[in-house]
Amino acid sequence: DWKMQDVLDEEIKTIQSMVGPDEHVICALSGGVDSTVAATLVHKAIGDRLHCVFVDNGLLRYKERERVMSTFESDLHLPVTCVDASEQFLSKLKGVEDPEQKRKIIGREFIAVFDDFAHKLEQKIGKRPEYLVQGTLYPDVIESCPPPGSGRTHSHTIKSHHNVGGLPKDMKLKLIEPLKLLFKDEVRKLGSILNVPDSFLKRHPFPGPGLAVRVLGDVTKGNALDTLRQVDEIFVQAIKDAGLYDKIWQAFAVFLPVQTVGVQGDQRTHSNAVVLRAITSEDGMTADWYYFGHEFLVDVVNKICNNVRGINRVCQDITSKPPATVEWE
Ligand code: XMP
Repeated sequence: DWKMQDVLDEEIKTIQSMVGPDEHVICALSGGVDSTVAATLVHKAIGDRLHCVFVDNGLLRYKERERVMSTFESDLHLPVTCVDASEQFLSKLKGVEDPEQKRKIIGREFIAVFDDFAHKLEQKIGKRPEYLVQGTLYPDVIESCPPPGSGRTHSHTIKSHHNVGGLPKDMKLKLIEPLKLLFKDEVRKLGSILNVPDSFLKRHPFPGPGLAVRVLGDVTKGNALDTLRQVDEIFVQAIKDAGLYDKIWQAFAVFLPVQTVGVQGDQRTHSNAVVLRAITSEDGMTADWYYFGHEFLVDVVNKICNNVRGINRVCQDITSKPPATVEWE
């Protein structure tokens, strides 16, 4: 794609002329397409004066940390520090039920971990990093600051997403936002020129607060997070096996803090229920629920009930957006 190749060459030149020869740049990788493509681009421009961090907040999907770290290191050769902060996040979330409160706590902890990373880096390289890379896209720019008269409102009034402008303000870092003028499909094209694996570029979006908004209520209760990870993995893998992954915008499971009566073998059980949610969408602002058909669902429900301890009931969410939102919290 010659147009995206031009965009890439231009961006690299801009970054090279902006960042001085002994200046350093930091970047938080989420495992998503945007931050990965942004970091890969900046790495191409300034090499190992880029320092990335990936935070395991204890709210990631099944084997997510291993999967993304291997892509960062083996496929993209990005300089990444992996910080395991799961204990820190989960202890702060203990007993917290309110979704907005959970988001605030996660945002705050993230900043604390990022701050700590920046300070340790400063000691290591003997100077302060000057720049911060963010994978902001054009729609994020419009959504956070709708042009006057556009009739668009802040989505933030519904849920406080913390990807835009959510990093330490007192660190006085200058921003590098190489994707600021691009739409998602353009970012994917750019990523593919930069050799970001296709499997990575086509990943479904994943919310910043992770599984915290998919375990309803207190996420630290019992085995909820681990149970959810297993269900989610079976569901998403079944979707991939059926060749449906690219037709679906987002597919995931939700853990309900509700126990229902069931029967397994000749035992009466009293276990948790989970919900499967799969939607199609253009941009996440509106969405339709996805119709799988009988065979797929029978198979996936059997797999879940036979393999995941503590689940005896599986439901599917067949609500579109609106009136529902994509996530349950
Ligand atoms: P909702 O649930 O608002 O979701 O219909 C729309 C899209 O946004 C994602 N989402 C989030 N992303 N932080 C994020 O980074 C959040 O707090 C958050 N809440 C929802 C959701 O997965 C969907 O793609």
